Amino acid sequence: MTGAGIPFNIGDVFPNFTAQTTFGPIDFHKWISGTWAVLFSHPADYTPVCTTEMVRLVKLLPEFVTRDCKVIALSIDSVESHKGWIEDILKVAEKPSLDFPVIADESREIAYKLNMLDKDELGKDGIPLTCRAVYIIDDRQKLRASICYPATTGRNFDEILRVIDSLQLTDKHSVATPADWKDGDACMVLPTVKQEDVAKLFPAGVEVIPVPSGKTYLRKTPQP
Ligand code: BEZ
Repeated sequence: MTGAGIPFNIGDVFPNFTAQTTFGPIDFHKWISGTWAVLFSHPADYTPVCTTEMVRLVKLLPEFVTRDCKVIALSIDSVESHKGWIEDILKVAEKPSLDFPVIADESREIAYKLNMLDKDELGKDGIPLTCRAVYIIDDRQKLRASICYPATTGRNFDEILRVIDSLQLTDKHSVATPADWKDGDACMVLPTVKQEDVAKLFPAGVEVIPVPSGKTYLRKTPQP
């Protein structure tokens, strides 16, 4: 089972699915229920990089909660296997509980549907494992960002929080966040903002960076 399942892209309503999880069965859309959510897929339980990622997620969960963002993980093993693996994760994380569900996708049905299979990474059964997909979904169930890593590259969770910060900020204000932006840094005024509206929209001021073309598209403003 490889290739693409349902075609979906940024801006589309994220495909719904039902799943068995460590918290019992879920209907994904009902589980999201009006908050942001991040779905993280993992190649397999009891593997080194996945374990470091799960430890990081357990420790970072309050940061996702602060952003009104639920977390859900997926791996291709059973609920029973997940429960055993979670004991290892909690021991390494030095935390008492793992407070987000982990989906059991033994048949890869969900991974296939959501385009998360990596044909270059095969499990013991010869079936492709899941890649390290990150799907960031907003409170209207729309896919807002997707990042995909191979099994051999662990994810950068600070980057994922940074993307959520950027999405939530730029939903509220007429700005975009520049390269390497972090919460609190200056932002760029959207190209669609007319010069006559700048003063009203950005009372903290706007700096226009001069460029040889003479165009005034590089407009910087303190983070609203
Ligand atoms: C890991 O999590 O360490 C891993 C899983 C599958 C393939 C390679 C690495």
